[in-house]
Parts: sequence; structure tokens; C-alpha cells
Amino acid sequence: QPLVGLVGWRGMVGSVLMDRMQAEGDFGLIEPLFFSTSNAGGKAPAQAKNEKVLKDAFDLEALKKCDIVITCQGGDYTTEVFPKLRAAGWNGHWIDAASTLRMKDDAIIVLDPVNMPVIRNALAKGGRNWIGGNCTVSCMLMGVGALYKAGLVEWMTSMTYQAASGGGAQHMRELLTQFGTLNAEVRSLLDDPKSAILEIDRKVLARQQSLSSEETANFGVPLGGSLIPWIDKDLGIGKQPDEAGWGISREEWKAGAETNKILGQGEGFGTKPVPVDGFCVRVGAMRCHSQALTFKLKKDVPVADIEAMIAADNAWAKVVPNTREATMQGLTPVAVTGTLDIPVGRIRKLAMGPEYVGAFTIGDQLLWGAAEPLRRMLRVLLE
Ligand code: HSE
Repeated sequence: QPLVGLVGWRGMVGSVLMDRMQAEGDFGLIEPLFFSTSNAGGKAPAQAKNEKVLKDAFDLEALKKCDIVITCQGGDYTTEVFPKLRAAGWNGHWIDAASTLRMKDDAIIVLDPVNMPVIRNALAKGGRNWIGGNCTVSCMLMGVGALYKAGLVEWMTSMTYQAASGGGAQHMRELLTQFGTLNAEVRSLLDDPKSAILEIDRKVLARQQSLSSEETANFGVPLGGSLIPWIDKDLGIGKQPDEAGWGISREEWKAGAETNKILGQGEGFGTKPVPVDGFCVRVGAMRCHSQALTFKLKKDVPVADIEAMIAADNAWAKVVPNTREATMQGLTPVAVTGTLDIPVGRIRKLAMGPEYVGAFTIGDQLLWGAAEPLRRMLRVLLE
């Protein structure tokens, strides 16, 4: 069985990956070798077979023995170890959740239900670097990839509602702690049905505005009962305010860059990219990223046809009927979290004209957004 090194398996994404690999029987097909950046020599988890001791994740000789390395350790680890490992002559397959290598020419962004032809083509040409996509982009394409595959999309905007988990485990804790702090501030008023709502509101605002730097250490500003319309760095790539790309966040830039790369189109493929742009917003959800999408299609396609294409595209995209009841029941982070389902709802023609279509989609940021494409790429390599 191929020797598969696992790095960063204990963190949040790594733990979800381990659970999914266990559930799908992946460990039955591999000889796992567990690495650690902090606990080399410690005990490997229960999935270990022959080697039950943790290896040092910075030990190039140990890594070099692996046929495949899967890492959820993060970008700093990739930056430090990957170039050294390749320079040392290692020719194995590197499967990575971090964004570090994503846009490199010799890296493929893996999302096999959407871009299996791109993956197979790269494999045939000796590709060795397989990188998971940005969570928002992967979840969006799992939902509405059918429209791109059919060449129907002239452009798309996405307005996102991104969960705390996208920042990391500490961000989720911070959000919940803020919710608790705000609740505690007004609990006695809430218990009294006759209390004045504007007094409650005033007290909540005062507490939000007085949250300490420790209480907002991860997000930088309050998120509980608020939102943050900026995710990741300011790229500063446009020169002028009137130029496309001016004032774009890194998360927003990824939408266009990664969508096109996943689909094997745009710069680097000698074709015109489909413009994808919009705003990325952090909201107080736990681990599902939601997105409101606006498409300009190249032609007028009936809603029923659009729904049929989305439903038939892959086993996980689920069309939610555009009714109030179905939306409330099936198209929320609470309904989707912990499942591999990618519901797509609110599909309707917009007032701008028959080629303009709106939709709303949700995905678990840790499953299709992070762990699932990695373990599925492992399966492709094991075929
Ligand atoms: N960058 C994403 C976010 C998560 O902050 O929500 C990882 O792709």
C-alpha cells in the first residue's frame, strides 16, 4: 500500500479530514505515516498501522519516503518545507489545503466533481502538486459549476456571508464568547418581558463598542451582532480608484482567479477568463459559507432548465425550490452544517432582463470548502 504522510491532521481542517477518511474507508487503502510539528516521538492516532510513533514534520528524510503527503498544517509550513522537499529530489504527490501554492503554474486546484478533466490532464503530464481551493470558491462551484461547464456564464458576482470558521478555530470561540458577553449584559432585561427594547439595544451597543482588544483579538472588531465586510489582506493591486481591482480584498480576488483556474480557463490557459467579482463579508455563522450570486448568462435559459442542470451536475448539489418554506427549512447554515450537501436555492430571473439570474448557495466550509477535495484527490491518485 502507498505510504501516505499526514501533516496537520490534529487541527480543525485536519480533524475533519481524518473523520471523512475514516468514514470513507480511505485508511484501508493506504499505509499512513503521521507527522507532527510539535510532538515528534509521541503516539500516532488509532488509524496508524505499522508506524505508531509520530514523525517530525520537518524531517525531510522521513517525508521523502512518502509516496503522497497530505498537509492541513497551513501556509507557513508549506512555505518552509515544500521547496526543500522538492529540492531534495522528492517526486511524490503533494496534496495541500493551504493557499501558498494554489496559483503556481505547476499546481492544480483540486475539485474533482467540477474539474476532473483538468486533474486528469495534469496527471497525464506528470503533475505532482494538488491544492485545495478557497472554501468560498469550492462551495460555489460545487453548487453552480454546471452553468460554467455549459459555457453559459458571461459574468458572475458573488456577495458572501462567510462563517467564523474561515478564520480558524480561535475565531469560532471568539464569536461565541462575544455572543455570551452580549447576552449576559442584558440578561435581566431579557427576562423581563416589559423591559424596553431600545434600552436593551443601547446596552448591547455600548458593550459591543467597549469590547476589549482581548475580546476581539482574532477578528479585530466585534463580530457578534455585527458583520465585517472585509476578509483577508488588502491586495492593493489596482492603481486608480476607477480601475477594476482597486481596493479588492484577497478573498474577493480569489473568487475570480481561482474560479477560472479550477475550470482550466483564463490567463495561463490562453483563454479569456470569465469575470467573477463581488464582496466578501464575515458574518456570525459558525462554519457554513453562504453566497448570493448574480449571473449574466450568455442567453436566456428557462429557470426550469437551469434547475435541471444544477441538479444533474453532481451528487451533492441540491436545488431548493424557490419558496419561502423550502428556503427557510433547507437553505440556511444550520440546515447544511456537517453535511456534504450544497443546496442552491432562490433561483430566479432578475428584473434587469431574461439573461440575469439570481441564486443563493451554502456549503460547509470545512467539508467541500477544505477537507473533502483533498481526500478525493487522494482517491484519484490511488485509482
Ligand atoms: N479564507 C476563507 C475565509 C477560508 O476566511 O473564510 C479559507 O478558504
